[in-house]
Amino acid sequence: MQDLVQLAPPVSQGQAAPETGPLIDTFDRVHDNLRISVTDRCNIRCFYCMPERGGEFAPVSQLLSFPEIMRFLAAAMPLGIQKVRLTGGEPLLRPKLPDLIAQIAEMPGVHDVALTTNAVLLERMAKPLYNAGLRRLNVHLDTLDRERFRQITRRDDLPRVLAGIETALEAGFRSIKLNAVAIRGVTEPDVVPLARFARDRNIEIRYIEFMPLDAQHLWSRDRVLLADEMIKTLSAAFGPLTPVPDPDPRAPATEYQYADGSVRVGFIASVSRPFCLNCNRLRLTADGKLRYCLFAREETDVRPLLAAGAGEAELERAIRSTVWKKWAGHQIDSPLFAAPNRPMYSIGG
Ligand code: 5AD
Ligand code: SF4
Repeated sequence: MQDLVQLAPPVSQGQAAPETGPLIDTFDRVHDNLRISVTDRCNIRCFYCMPERGGEFAPVSQLLSFPEIMRFLAAAMPLGIQKVRLTGGEPLLRPKLPDLIAQIAEMPGVHDVALTTNAVLLERMAKPLYNAGLRRLNVHLDTLDRERFRQITRRDDLPRVLAGIETALEAGFRSIKLNAVAIRGVTEPDVVPLARFARDRNIEIRYIEFMPLDAQHLWSRDRVLLADEMIKTLSAAFGPLTPVPDPDPRAPATEYQYADGSVRVGFIASVSRPFCLNCNRLRLTADGKLRYCLFAREETDVRPLLAAGAGEAELERAIRSTVWKKWAGHQIDSPLFAAPNRPMYSIGG
């Protein structure tokens, strides 16, 4: 087992972050992917993320405003950000979200704006989002079984989610991906029906190994349903899966092809096959904390900078120095691993 200290970056040796060039960390990873959380609230309460009751939410007055988010983006884009994803909490709870999307989509240099949602409000929002310029949607859907949906999310919203997905397809979204968190002892019976649902609609599904980011600290390694097991299950149901050579080795999902050539299936095997060495992601929380990792133990508060009207140069320094502090990886397997001080809903997925 490696020593955590060895895996922290060598910033302590006095090297400062580069002032120009791509947004790199001390491991030479180039960061071009920014995930922005627009709220830490959610309308369902998946047990792998939220507590059943309560939770710690930032006061609404502390959320970054749209102009603040846009100013942050204006400073970040020139550093090489290519992909922007809006997350939450549940981003569709943020009032006037399509306005923000329209502004981002119109920014010069933005190649890609995407959204991750639980789809509970998608039936109503799909068209406005599409009209605002959104083209890529990730929808989380862990089960097609209404009772299990209720057990996982503590809400009875499966019908709304399914209606939301159909509405998004009708609204013109071609690039919808499903995210299913895979939990041993809970979602085994869902693996095959979810794959069938996705294949029937020609949409890609990605199974995500359960990570230690839940508010109630229920995670343990033996609750992770592993990618390899799901690959076996799907191969038995649909014929052998074969890995697709990866055009972007920095994408977290490993993709597989079905024997019959239907739409691909992916696995985000954060626990069994960590992809940290290729990580290109940076995260901004809804309350303006910049994080270099889901599992980071430190963050940079950029809200005061934005509130004080900091210029692009100052924001650039904050962004570069945050990335420069990035650790090698999440260390889930280290005996010294400690879950981050924020659960998933307050970081942004
Ligand atoms: N482990 C793995 N994935 C998680 N998500 C939320 N919490 C966890 C967790 N503990 C997923 C959600 C969503 C994405 C943002 O992260 O399902 O798709
Ligand atoms: Fe809400 Fe997403 Fe967390 Fe589920 S995973 S409780 S949908 S923020």
